[in-house]
Amino acid sequence: MTTTIPTRTLGTTGPQVSALGLGCMGMSALYGDSDRAESVATVHAALEAGVTLLDTGDFYGMGHNELLVGEALRTAPAALREQARVSVKFGALRGPDGSWLGYDGRPEAVKNFAAYSLQRLGVDHIDVYRLARLDPSVPIEETVGAIAELVEQGYVRHIGLSEVGADTVRRAAATAPIADLQIEYSLISRGIEDRILPATRELGIGITAYGVLSRGLISGHFTADRQLAANDFRALSPRFQGDNLQHNLSLVEALRKIAEEKGVSVAQIAIAWVLSRGDDIVPLVGARSRNRLSEALGALDVTLDAADLAAVEKAVPADAAAGARYPESQMEHLDSER
Ligand SMILES: NC(=O)c1ccc[n+]([C@@H]2O[C@H](COP(=O)([O-])OP(=O)(O)OC[C@H]3O[C@@H](n4cnc5c(N)ncnc54)[C@H](OP(=O)(O)O)[C@@H]3O)[C@@H](O)[C@H]2O)c1
Repeated sequence: MTTTIPTRTLGTTGPQVSALGLGCMGMSALYGDSDRAESVATVHAALEAGVTLLDTGDFYGMGHNELLVGEALRTAPAALREQARVSVKFGALRGPDGSWLGYDGRPEAVKNFAAYSLQRLGVDHIDVYRLARLDPSVPIEETVGAIAELVEQGYVRHIGLSEVGADTVRRAAATAPIADLQIEYSLISRGIEDRILPATRELGIGITAYGVLSRGLISGHFTADRQLAANDFRALSPRFQGDNLQHNLSLVEALRKIAEEKGVSVAQIAIAWVLSRGDDIVPLVGARSRNRLSEALGALDVTLDAADLAAVEKAVPADAAAGARYPESQMEHLDSER
């Protein structure tokens, strides 16, 4: 049975979605091995609970994630499938060995990527479609213009952006209506607050926040002795290395005290904090098991009052994290960091 969970609207022109979205990336890639049956069961449990926003990317496992989301949608009860809003990222180029080969935002590439995504997902339209990283050789107007054509043709409903800075957001919004910007935002990744968030708010663009648990680092479940596979993003992420990791986990312990006093979990505090930042923000949680999903959904029942928020900010001040949020080679693709 479907439970009602709160909804939020993505920007002034975007769809109404559940206040928490499910990010499906980790079910296929980047966080080590995952369990396909449990992944599909997690998507079903999310839909059952009233989650309507599913986020994927065509390059997550080179099509694997879209096939998985497609399978989960196909095998879900029709009513739940119809409520689902699927957000898809495209543009990252991968080799058969999983290597990362750059980004392609050319109009003809946009249409090509979309054609394949529709097939893999088994849907007749994509709800929100976005370039994963700015292609420096293609003006954003051209990429967004191509998605706008797909909107006109009925293959896409809304245009989104991902990890771009305020200037690119403005240029994109001058080209076509933009529903949301997907970008990292958490207690320890607050870079959007200076310029990006004021710009999206001025323009009526929503935020779908990813990494709200900093990829598990501030979930309260991550331990320093955890062995990470070589293909796990976190094995290369500066925040998960040596002294940085020790420091960052000490922040989690400070957060744990507050969580214990409130009788909730660390992950719930971290998600509730992002939820508290404004109704224009929809956190995407990367749960890939029903247990983690259930914990994440519990954050919707956590209210942080002024005293709680002050305690959280004292435990984890805005610039408290040690280490950059991406390895150097990936930071250079982030228009949002310029
Ligand atoms: N636009 C972009 O550039 C971009 C980049 C990255 C991600 N994304 C999207 O955002 C989504 C979320 O990102 P993310 O997966 O990095 O974020 P996240 O939610 O910060 O991290 C997910 C990780 O946290 C761990 N975790 C521990 N407790 C959890 C709980 N209660 N609920 C959920 N996860 C818990 C998971 O652990 P386990 O090891 O136990 O599974 C998983 O490894 C992705 O799935 C993807 O769709 C977008």
